[in-house]
Amino acid sequence: MAISVNLSAIITALGGRHAIQQLLNVGPSAISNYLTRGHLPERAKPIIYAALTKKGYQIRADDLEILAGPPATSSQPLHSDTHFGKRILLIVAGGIAAYKALETARQLQQLGAHVTGVMTDGAKQFITPLSLAALTGEKCYDSLFSLTDEAEMGHIRLARSADLVLVVPATANFMARANAGIADDLATTILLATTAKVAMAPAMNPAMWAHVATKHNFASLRQRGVHMIGPVSGDTACGEEGEGRMCEPADIAAAAMQLITPQNIPNAKDHAKSPLAGKRIIVTSGPTIEPIDKVRFIANRSSGKQGHAIAASLASRGADVILISGPVNEPAPDQVTMVQVTTANEMLAACKAALPADIAICAAAVADWRVQSVSDQKLKKPEDPDAGMMLALCQNPDILAHISSASNRPKLVIGFAAETENLLQNATKKRQRKGCDWIIANQVGGDADPVFGSALNQAMLISANGVDEWPQMQKTDLAETLADHIEAELTR
Ligand code: CTP
Repeated sequence: MAISVNLSAIITALGGRHAIQQLLNVGPSAISNYLTRGHLPERAKPIIYAALTKKGYQIRADDLEILAGPPATSSQPLHSDTHFGKRILLIVAGGIAAYKALETARQLQQLGAHVTGVMTDGAKQFITPLSLAALTGEKCYDSLFSLTDEAEMGHIRLARSADLVLVVPATANFMARANAGIADDLATTILLATTAKVAMAPAMNPAMWAHVATKHNFASLRQRGVHMIGPVSGDTACGEEGEGRMCEPADIAAAAMQLITPQNIPNAKDHAKSPLAGKRIIVTSGPTIEPIDKVRFIANRSSGKQGHAIAASLASRGADVILISGPVNEPAPDQVTMVQVTTANEMLAACKAALPADIAICAAAVADWRVQSVSDQKLKKPEDPDAGMMLALCQNPDILAHISSASNRPKLVIGFAAETENLLQNATKKRQRKGCDWIIANQVGGDADPVFGSALNQAMLISANGVDEWPQMQKTDLAETLADHIEAELTR
């Protein structure tokens, strides 16, 4: 299979045709063919993705489109019209916390960002476009249908001109509209049109925050890759106390800048101090898919959310993460080397190739069996509707057990145990049987909380030292909790 790409841009970014030839281990005529057809072979995708990511480019995973250049260490600006570093489109929605958007704009500018304001009609009830324009030194955009703006800068161009679209405050109404994909004003249209990262700082009354509809919108936006900054607990602007208070402008600005320039943030967490910085970590994620014939397959249920969240968390703390994943819909996290595989055998081969490593975390739901002989044609059903069908299966290699017993075994090997019954007992046995150091055990298959595909997870960490039970939490929070435990282990 081939994928359509903008190969000229990739060649320039990688330093020329010779560099890409070496990377793909092909001759000059292959590159000419790829250029003529505008296609790359599918196998080249993870290799090129990894090489561009290593160079600091932000890449869209599905078609390798270069979204932003490497952090500005070179003299070449990322955007020809940018003199002040990264460009942030600051969308202000209509809530009492809107006044804090002004302070957020100031903080962002102090961190070197170039801020352009966009306001909803609701926001204008709280602050004026003039105050934001005066502060940013830029026109503040507020109307989708202003002909002047369309002539000067169409809303699509405005949406694409940013490195980050940041919504401060993200009200319950704004999150609902964004989640539904409604585009009935400039701000929501930008959200649909942008290819940049999107971050939101929710702010609302605690009861509105606790409402199931808001929770759903928040989780769904987050699943789609929107970065959520807060909210936190405390006094809210409406005079009540509880969760729903917007993060402080300085924290929002630091978190926003970290999303686009992790290395250059004075206020951001200094990951060089994390014991994970520079550690080489293998993470497996997603399902494996084992073909039966040309169209059918056997697979385990897995969205890849948990494994990808773990990879993202470790990478954000400075680890050198190789994420080896089966087919999933999750976007590749920033700053990880992504290796895409399909079958268990391919996953094992990729893990062996990635060793030696300091740590391995096997979060993949590897299919336990594969078909002994895969048909190269679509298998036909027997004419008799009552006739059964026998498939001879053989066991797949146990990747976690292989890594645990490898001669170049990582110092810390962590597995998962997804169990439908006797969680603690089965997971403890699994830890011993597979020879890993820790098992993260979670109950699956319950009707009330399916885990698979959900943003939530509840788990316990089982090690030689005992059991640590964790409360139910977002998969992204579970990833952070695991990363905290690994950091603690490395400093023991
Ligand atoms: N695992 C693996 N290779 C396999 C099967 C599982 O690396 N062939 C890893 C998973 O990534 C996970 C752990 O082993 O970290 C446990 O996976 P799980 O599916 O719970 O266990 P199984 O080995 O399949 O055992 P069982 O089906 O008996 O529960």
